[in-house]
Amino acid sequence: MTAIAIDGPAGAGKSTIARALARKLGYIYVDTGALYRSIGLYCTEAGVPLEDKAAVTAALEQIRVELRYVDGVQRVLLNGRDVSEEIRRPEISLAASSVSAMDTVRAFLFDLQRNMALEHDVVMDGRDIGTVVLPDAQVKIYLTASAEERTRRRMAEYEAKGLHADFEELLREVNLRDEQDKNRAVAPLRKAEDAVELDSTCMNAEEVLAAIETIVKERNA
Ligand code: DC
Repeated sequence: MTAIAIDGPAGAGKSTIARALARKLGYIYVDTGALYRSIGLYCTEAGVPLEDKAAVTAALEQIRVELRYVDGVQRVLLNGRDVSEEIRRPEISLAASSVSAMDTVRAFLFDLQRNMALEHDVVMDGRDIGTVVLPDAQVKIYLTASAEERTRRRMAEYEAKGLHADFEELLREVNLRDEQDKNRAVAPLRKAEDAVELDSTCMNAEEVLAAIETIVKERNA
C-alpha cells in the first residue's frame, strides 16, 4: 500500500489538494479533520464541556465514528448518522480543535486512521499524519500559507456558499486555531523531518497540485 501524508495548518488548501491528488492517482482521500470534527459535534450537541477532558473522555464510550465512501467521496457517520455537512460549521472547527488536544481522543481515532492506510492506497490529510499516524508514509508534504492568505481563502469559501463572513473575525479564528494546534502537548502540528515543505501563499491550486505530483514521482522513482 502507498500512503501520501499532507499536513499543515487550517486553510492551507490541504483538502482541495489531497482530494484532487487522490482522484488523479486512484487513491482514497482520507480527511482526518472530519473525525475530530465529529467528536466536537457530538460533545457540542450532547452538552459535554469541551474543556473537561474527563467528561469528553467518558463521552467517547457513547461515540462510534465510521468513514464511508460514496462515489469516491468521503462521508462521516457519527453513531450511524451522516454528519458530513454539519461538521463544517465554524463553531465545530473550534470544538474539534479543543477535543483534538486530548490524548484520549487521539488514541480513540488512531486505529481507524491506521486501518484505512493498511487497507487502501491513501492520500491522508491532517496535522500529525506524517509525524504520528503514518510515520512510514512514502511521501510527506507540509503545506502552509500565510494566515492572511488562508483567511482570504476561507472568506471566499463562505461567500461561495452565500454566507457572510468578517475578515478580521475569521483571521482571529485562524490564528487561534493555529495556536491551539501547534502548542498542544500531544501530537502538535509540526513538519515531519522528512516532509517536503510547500508554501502555497502565492500559488493557485493547480500549481500546488503540479508541485506535489512532481514530488510524488521523484519519491516513487
Ligand atoms: O483540518 P480541519 O480543519 O478539518 O481539522 C479540525 C481540527 O481537528 C483542527 O483544528 C485540528 C484537529 N486535527 C488534528 O488535531 N489532527 C488531525 N490529523 C486533523 C485535525
